[in-house]
Amino acid sequence: MNIAVTAASGRLGRATLAALKRDLGGDAVVGIARDPARIAVPGVAARAGDYGSIAQMATALDGIESVVMISAPVVAGTDRVTMHRNVIAAARRAGVRKIVFTSVIGGPGEEATMFYVTQQINRQTEADLAAAGLDWIVARNGLYLDLDLGHIIRADAGGVYRNNGGDGRCGYISIDELGVATARLAAREHCNGRIVNLTSENRTQAELVALANDVFGLDVGYEPITVEQNIARFMADEHIAARGEGVARMLTGCFECIQSGAFDVPSHFAEAAGRPATSIRDQMVAIRERG
Ligand SMILES: NC(=O)c1ccc[n+]([C@@H]2O[C@H](COP(=O)([O-])OP(=O)(O)OC[C@H]3O[C@@H](n4cnc5c(N)ncnc54)[C@H](OP(=O)(O)O)[C@@H]3O)[C@@H](O)[C@H]2O)c1
Repeated sequence: MNIAVTAASGRLGRATLAALKRDLGGDAVVGIARDPARIAVPGVAARAGDYGSIAQMATALDGIESVVMISAPVVAGTDRVTMHRNVIAAARRAGVRKIVFTSVIGGPGEEATMFYVTQQINRQTEADLAAAGLDWIVARNGLYLDLDLGHIIRADAGGVYRNNGGDGRCGYISIDELGVATARLAAREHCNGRIVNLTSENRTQAELVALANDVFGLDVGYEPITVEQNIARFMADEHIAARGEGVARMLTGCFECIQSGAFDVPSHFAEAAGRPATSIRDQMVAIRERG
């Protein structure tokens, strides 16, 4: 079976492509990216495909049976619903049988948060996919452990990690573990027609910080702050500020989802991947070893 991964130059695309290659061998796997030279998995075919062009994406999907559609990044001025619809249209045109879409976990409580605008785009694509007439799976991803771990490590200098997550529990998972499960959802038929949550352990912010302290030898404390304080914290980060206040609000909305319990969801990882997720501690060790 030929399986493709779109946005294969990104972190999740790369991890999924690498997992597919490990499971199936490179001959069965195709990476698709705006710039194929940026696909950092050797030994797989690399093709050009932009979410803005149905025709180019259909060409890239020629001969593909199953495709992982990685969700488009949140960038001001882009229409992510249309981008995802373009990929679905291209898949139909190319005769692809199945699409796995990488979405985001969520549940009751998310409507009242600043993440909901983004979440509605994910939910719209989920609905579009289910109505497209192809085999489909929605893989709702937990929050990337790698990213929040990075923020905790960088907080070590000041000694305190602050956000508005409070005491809420959140399903976290490393990008590499997500790649393993997503690859198997694309290659196997056991979860077709379902929405599955890809998470490992559900942890509070204080628990996450304590584990990071242990694994990375840090001495960071956790302090809950208000929504407004968290927006200001993000705007003080030059990388987030460069993406605009809307992004700072969206990311703060993720912590609102944590605080409200909307990200405290049951996990379907073991069913999806065919093995349990490794522990958060072991995921942290793997991230530490990788450097
Ligand atoms: N669950 C979470 O915690 C979490 C966190 C962050 C993001 N996400 C979501 O998950 C997605 C994947 O995450 P990631 O870490 O892999 O993101 P990433 O590393 O930022 O990669 C984004 C990918 O999207 C590609 N892309 C951007 N515009 C495109 C277009 N018009 N056509 C085709 N490809 C395009 C980029 O290609 P180039 O290399 O050409 O730029 C890159 O490959 C994100 O896009 C976002 O929707 C989830």
